[in-house]
Amino acid sequence: MSYWKTSAGASCSLCVHSLRALLAFSLCCFISGNSERDRAHDLLSRYPLIDGHNDLALRLRIHYNNQLSKINLTQLTRVATDISRLRAGHVQAQMFSVYVLCGAQHMDAVRLTLEQIDVIRRICTEYPDFELVTSTQELRDSLTRDKIACLIGIEGGHSIDSSLPALRMFYQLGVRSMSLTHSCNTPWAESSTNYYKVFVRPNNSLTTFGKAVVDEMNRLGMIVDLSHTSFETASAVLNHSKAPVIFSHSSSYKICNNSRNVPDWLLHKLKVNRGLIMVNFYTPFISCQNEANVSHLADHFDHIKAVIGAKSIGIGGDFDGGIRFPVGLEDVSKYPVIIQELLKRKWTEEELADVLRNNFLRVFDEVEKVRNELSWKKPSEEEIPQTEVANKCRMELKQPILRELLSNQSPSLKSKGQNLLFLALALLFNSFLD
Ligand SMILES: *[C@@H]1O[C@H](CO)[C@@H](O)[C@H](O)[C@H]1NC(C)=O
Ligand SMILES: *[C@@H]1O[C@H](CO)[C@@H](O)[C@H](O)[C@H]1NC(C)=O
Ligand SMILES: *[C@@H]1O[C@H](CO)[C@@H](O)[C@H](O)[C@H]1NC(C)=O
Ligand SMILES: *[C@@H]1O[C@H](CO)[C@@H](O)[C@H](O)[C@H]1NC(C)=O
Ligand SMILES: *[C@@H]1O[C@H](CO)[C@@H](O)[C@H](O)[C@H]1NC(C)=O
Ligand SMILES: [Zn+2]
Repeated sequence: MSYWKTSAGASCSLCVHSLRALLAFSLCCFISGNSERDRAHDLLSRYPLIDGHNDLALRLRIHYNNQLSKINLTQLTRVATDISRLRAGHVQAQMFSVYVLCGAQHMDAVRLTLEQIDVIRRICTEYPDFELVTSTQELRDSLTRDKIACLIGIEGGHSIDSSLPALRMFYQLGVRSMSLTHSCNTPWAESSTNYYKVFVRPNNSLTTFGKAVVDEMNRLGMIVDLSHTSFETASAVLNHSKAPVIFSHSSSYKICNNSRNVPDWLLHKLKVNRGLIMVNFYTPFISCQNEANVSHLADHFDHIKAVIGAKSIGIGGDFDGGIRFPVGLEDVSKYPVIIQELLKRKWTEEELADVLRNNFLRVFDEVEKVRNELSWKKPSEEEIPQTEVANKCRMELKQPILRELLSNQSPSLKSKGQNLLFLALALLFNSFLD
C-alpha cells in the first residue's frame, strides 16, 4: 500500500489534491478543526518528513542488547519509534543516531559505535520498509519507492577517538553526519554541558585538530552537526566550515534558555552559513519545565522563523533520546499535530514543505557540492598531538623492551629460565619489527 504520493508524474493526483483543497477550503467555516487536520495530513503526504535525529538504536542497546531476533520493529510499543508509527507520522527519512555514552571515551567508544552502526544497517536492510541511503540522489529515489530512508549520524566526536582515518572508515560504512560532541568535551571540541570534567581548556573551543576534523568532513561530504556543542565551538565551526552545517536536534534558546538550545546570535551566523536548525521536541528544551504542549513547541518554530526565516528550519524530534515529550507529541506518529498547529498559525504550505524536507535536501545537496569541489584534496594526514590525547588506552607504537615484557608477568613466572625465554622472544620480536 502506498502511504504517500510520489513526486514523479502524478498529474492526476495533483488535480485530486487541488479539488480536495478546494473542498476543504469551502467547508472550513463549518468544521475548521477537521479541515486543518486534513490539510496537515495532505501536506505531509505530499512532502513527507525528513527528521534529523532519532535514538532508536540507543533503546535497542538498552532494552534488547541489539538482538533484533527478539523483536519485530513493525510494532514495538516499548519505544517511541516503530515502522507502523513512522508510517502514521509520514516520516519518509530518518537520521538514526549511533550514539555511545561519553563514559566510553578513551575506552571502547569506537567498537560500540561500530556495533550501533551494525544494528542500524541490519534494521535498514532486513526490513523491506526501510532503505539505507548515503546520498541525496538515493534519498530522493527512496521516496519514489515508498521506502523509509535511513541515514546514519554519529552523535559525539568521541566516537572517532581523535582519528581522521577512523572518521573516514565510518564514512565508508555509510555515516553521513557527525555531531562534534555529546555531553563531554573531546580533546578537540567543547560540549554545551559539562557533566564530564574532561579536556577543560579555556579559549580553545575548536583546536587545530578540531579544524582538521571539520575540513575532513567537508572533504568527505559528511554533514557537520552542532547540536550538543558549546556556543563558542559552534561559532568557531560556523566561521570555519566550507559547507552548510546543521543543528540536528536543538531548539530556541530565546524561548527556553537551556544550553542545548541555540541563541539568536548563533542563528544569524547559521543563516549566513546556509545551514539548518532542526527543532527538538524534548520537553525540557521546549518549555524549560516538566510539562509542555504543542503551543510551546510551535513558539520555537515561530521565533526561529521571525529571526532567520523558514528556509533555515527543519525538524529533529529526538524521539527515543529524550524521555519526556509534550502532551500529544509522544512518539513518531505525532508529527502531523505540530504541522496542524503551524497551519493554524498561518504558516504557508511552501514554508512547511521547506521545513519538512526541502531545506534538508538543499543542505545535503550543498554538502555534496562542496565535497565535489574539494575532490582534488588528498585524505588529511593531520594527527592530534600525543600530549592532547595521552591516556592509558592509547597504544604508543614502539619496540617492546625486555623489562616491560617481564614486568607484565606474575612474579612466580620470573624464574631464570623464563627470563631467558623472554629474552629470546624479545629479540625475535625486535627482528620482525625492523
Ligand atoms: C513482523 O510483524 C508483521 C505483522 O505484524 C509481519 O508481517 C512480519 O512478517 C513480522 N516480521 C518479522 C521479522 O517477524
Ligand atoms: C581566556 O579565557 C579567560 C576566561 O574566559 C579570559 O579571562 C582570558 O582573558 C582569555 N585569554 C585569552 C588569551 O583570550
Ligand atoms: C568568528 O569570526 C569572527 C569574525 O569574523 C570573530 O570575531 C570571532 O571571534 C570568531 N569566533 C570564533 C569562535 O572563532
Ligand atoms: C533562564 O531563565 C530563567 C527565568 O526564565 C532564569 O531564572 C535563569 O537564570 C536563566 N538561566 C540562564 C542560564 O540564563
Ligand atoms: C499549552 O499550555 C499553556 C499553559 O502552559 C496554555 O496557555 C495553552 O493554551 C496550552 N495549549 C494547548 C494547545 O493546550
Ligand atoms: Zn542528543
